[in-house]
Order: sequence, then structure tokens, then C-alpha cells
Amino acid sequence: MSHKSFKAVIPAAGLGTRFLPATKAMPKEMLPVVDKPAIQYVVEEATDAGIDDILIIIGRNKNNLSNHFDSVPELEDKLRAKGDIDKLNKVQRSSELADIHFVRQGEPKGLGHAVSRARAHVGDHPFAVLLGDDLIDERDPLLTTMLAQHERTGATIIALMEVDPEQIHMYGAAAIEATDTDDFVKVTGLVEKPSKEDAPSNLAIIGRYVLTPAVFDVLDHTEPGKGGEIQLTDALQELATQEDGPGVYGVVFRGRRYDTGDRVDYIKAIVQLASDREDLGPELRPWLKDFAATL
Ligand code: UTP
Repeated sequence: MSHKSFKAVIPAAGLGTRFLPATKAMPKEMLPVVDKPAIQYVVEEATDAGIDDILIIIGRNKNNLSNHFDSVPELEDKLRAKGDIDKLNKVQRSSELADIHFVRQGEPKGLGHAVSRARAHVGDHPFAVLLGDDLIDERDPLLTTMLAQHERTGATIIALMEVDPEQIHMYGAAAIEATDTDDFVKVTGLVEKPSKEDAPSNLAIIGRYVLTPAVFDVLDHTEPGKGGEIQLTDALQELATQEDGPGVYGVVFRGRRYDTGDRVDYIKAIVQLASDREDLGPELRPWLKDFAATL
């Protein structure tokens, strides 16, 4: 389905401190997942959902991110001269995927602040936000479902995933009410990184959102919250509890997700994605079995 009327925003201006020193001179969204940077999977997910206008919010070390989505004529000429068409296609793909724009965040004041930097580009329209370090398996399309739910309800749509209650302190957590549709819930409250005891449920916010432009006015007055950062969760909490707005709904995702911002999950993502691939899996899978037997 085409969603050409939507723009997508990918915040990639965080400090990525969990990956230091790898992220000292490179955003964590540029870390390779098998043979593509994480952010390319996310851009491909947006284009697969029919969105072809993408705004990436960049911080320091912006150059390698923007270079990745530019063409590199000298490299392309070399590959063409060698007749290596397969690699040529791979190199060209990232620069032909979508209409990609960049805006700077300046200082990393939090995800909410990063999203607010998209206002001029997005204008008065609903838009999608995809976190650049959160990968959703292309076999489990989530964004398409969220865009369709937004078109049906006009509401803000967030993605939720059941997590182990021991892990909820790492996420925003949602208080919800069921609706008539399976895995589609009304969000009645949100808390950023609650303790296990304070969490309203074990439904965690994951990195996909369909937002209405009303979020910008709310972000304008959202005070710094957890960690001293302007939290998108706090702005969404206000939208969820407004009496006269369309509210906030959640799509409960039960598919495959890889959090490449966390070191162990990053390694798992590479192993899972590589072992599923036709070009790498046949060599990798037997090795993995042998290796696992030694553990
Ligand atoms: P995270 O909290 O996972 O990113 O933000 P981080 O702060 O870079 O990571 P650590 O904890 O230090 O390792 C979630 C997403 O929001 C973006 C990040 O780039 C990431 O995609 N973000 C966060 C911004 O764009 N700007 C910010 O000020 C903060």
C-alpha cells in the first residue's frame, strides 16, 4: 500500500554511550548489521511501507551518515569497470532508496527534543517516527499496520511489545484498555522507564510511532523528564490524557524486533539475520551449532 502522503522522521542524534568507543566518531545507527548500517534497514522499512520522504535528525558525526545516502561516483566507476554489478547495485541502492533530508539537533536533549526538530519539514501533517537503532524484521510489517490504524482513527499510534517485567525499567510503559480489535489497545497513560513496581503493565513502547502534528505544540512545553532529557513519552502521556483530542492507541507487536542500541541484542540481531540469509546461512548455521555445543 502506498503511504506517499506521510513523511518519516528518523532520530539518529543520540550519543550512543553504550557502544563507546565504537560510537566516538560514528553514530550508533551506522554500526553494520551484517553488511548494511542499521539505519539503512530502517529507511528500507519506511520505503516498504510506501513512504519516500525521510528526514534524519543528526547530531555530531553527521558526515558518515549523510555520506552513506549519497552517491560515490569514483567507487561506482571502479565497480562498473570491473564488471562487479552485484556490488555496484548494493552501493547505488542506499543513494536511490528515498528522498532523504537531514536536520541537526544541535545538542542531544532527548528524543522528544529530536522529534521537535522535524516541525518545519513535516508541517501540519501526521508523520511516522522510526528509531534508527530499532530494527523490525521485514517479514513482520508493523509500520503498515500502524499507518492504516492512524488513517482509520486519526489518532496517535504507538507500537507496544510485551517484555519481561524485569526489563520494563528500560522502556516507556503503557497503561491500556482493550478495544474490539485484537492487539489494538487504547493507551490511557504512559510512564518513561518505570521501576517494575511502578509500571502500569509490561507493555513497552518500541521505536515506531505515527504522530499527529499536535505533538509539536505539546513538545514545546514538555519539561525535561527522566535523565534530564525531553522525553517523547511525556508528550505522548499528555496527548493520551487530553479530553478533547483523538487520543493515543497502541498496536501490540508480536513479531521479530532487534534492538541494535544494546550490545547483546546487537550481536543477536547479526547472528539471527545472517543465519536466515541465503548467501551466509548455509555456512554459518552448522558453525553455530558446533559452537553452541562447546558452550
Ligand atoms: P537512546 O536513549 O537509545 O539513545 O535513544 P542514546 O542516548 O544515543 O543511547 P545510549 O543509551 O547513550 O547508548 C533512542 C533514539 O533516540 C535518538 C537516538 O539516536 C536513538 O535513535 N536520540 C536520543 C536523539 O536523536 N536525540 C537525543 O537527544 C536522544
